[in-house]
Amino acid sequence: MPAPNDATTILRNTSMALTAVGEGLGLIKGAAIVIKGPSIAWVGAEKDLPSSLADDAAIRDLEGRLVSPGLVDCHAHPVFAGRRADEFARRARGDHYLDIAREGGGIMATVRATREASQSELIELSCARMRFALQSGTTTMEAKSGYDLTSDGELRLLGVAAAVSAKQAIALRPTLLGAHALPPEFVGDRPGFIKTVTDEMIPRAASTRAAEAVDVYCDEGAFTLQETRLILEAAKRNGLKTKAHIGQFADLGAAQLLAELGSLSGDHLEVVSSEGLKAMAQAGVVATLLPGACVQLRMTPPPVEAIRHAGVAMAIGSDLNPGTSHSESLPLAMWLATTHYGMSVEEAWLGVTRNAARALGDASLGTIAEGGPADLVVWDAELPAEVPYHFGVNLVNSVYKGGNVVWAVPTGH
Ligand code: NIG
Ligand code: FE
Repeated sequence: MPAPNDATTILRNTSMALTAVGEGLGLIKGAAIVIKGPSIAWVGAEKDLPSSLADDAAIRDLEGRLVSPGLVDCHAHPVFAGRRADEFARRARGDHYLDIAREGGGIMATVRATREASQSELIELSCARMRFALQSGTTTMEAKSGYDLTSDGELRLLGVAAAVSAKQAIALRPTLLGAHALPPEFVGDRPGFIKTVTDEMIPRAASTRAAEAVDVYCDEGAFTLQETRLILEAAKRNGLKTKAHIGQFADLGAAQLLAELGSLSGDHLEVVSSEGLKAMAQAGVVATLLPGACVQLRMTPPPVEAIRHAGVAMAIGSDLNPGTSHSESLPLAMWLATTHYGMSVEEAWLGVTRNAARALGDASLGTIAEGGPADLVVWDAELPAEVPYHFGVNLVNSVYKGGNVVWAVPTGH
């Protein structure tokens, strides 16, 4: 990432800024945005721009384009090797994800490929994924481990995430997902594996600051509610934030557990009870919805109306992973959220900005606010609805991270 500078740039002649501050999307029509160094110095209607701010500033005329916060991808598994297009083809013919996993495919197929890959190969593969994500407007992404499942290996994957974060523009936020699947070494000894996660992986990830949060795959075919409790309680004891994949296939009651533990988010949620949603709402746990995986696995969507009605904040993640959601694109996830899940355009935008930042536990992200980071996307669009409406093409015109232009559509387009 280029070093932050102290120069001032004014973005003017926008159609509007979607600030995600205050009511709804916090739209400011005809907005100007003043960037100073890595931060936003001022945002408001251009007619109110204080003239003193314009001294010595570089001016960029956005010719009536929409500006939004840099998108925040709060659920992603970007560090892995290998491909599972063969499984995709099988599922397209009707085979089931869990059956493929039981035959040794699924997560374990990626674990085998990832264990064999060198550190530099993993860095290169992950950086290539970051290029797709950046072009799609993402400026911050979660990076889960989970494709090695040994203590040394999971720490190695978190090290890859740190190296990738330092090498390119997207800031990666590391999450330990040691309990993603039961590794072959522990078949027949589930308690032994849980102990490895709680007594080795978590303390090591915490003491080296390799992870900010701990995630568990709590579901049918993965880890039980009691195993999830042991792992997330260990995470809390070690000062790490908690979250879990829950209710993708079956509701094991984890929504209540996450509420009890004050977790950041419960993710997937195709199946969740109304008691679970009530508990999440009361505890302020975000519902992170993953329409890429849901649609690809041909699942029934989560009960969005019940989630909304319960007052649970909704975020949307790409769930970038080689199995169920091989996509870096949040605009595509927004399209699926609006067309397939019945989320409003407003909910979809908040899901990849302010609410996604909350799901990462970093409220400084996902908004355009004075003093906040100058992470911005300029869109080849005038209105917020155009982004999910025009699907499958890239409407991103340019991306700012920490005040620098880190991607721009090639000129002549
Ligand atoms: O979020 N559900 C668990 N993990 C991923 C899938 C991982 C894989 O299939 O490799 C998910 O969908
Ligand atoms: Fe996931």
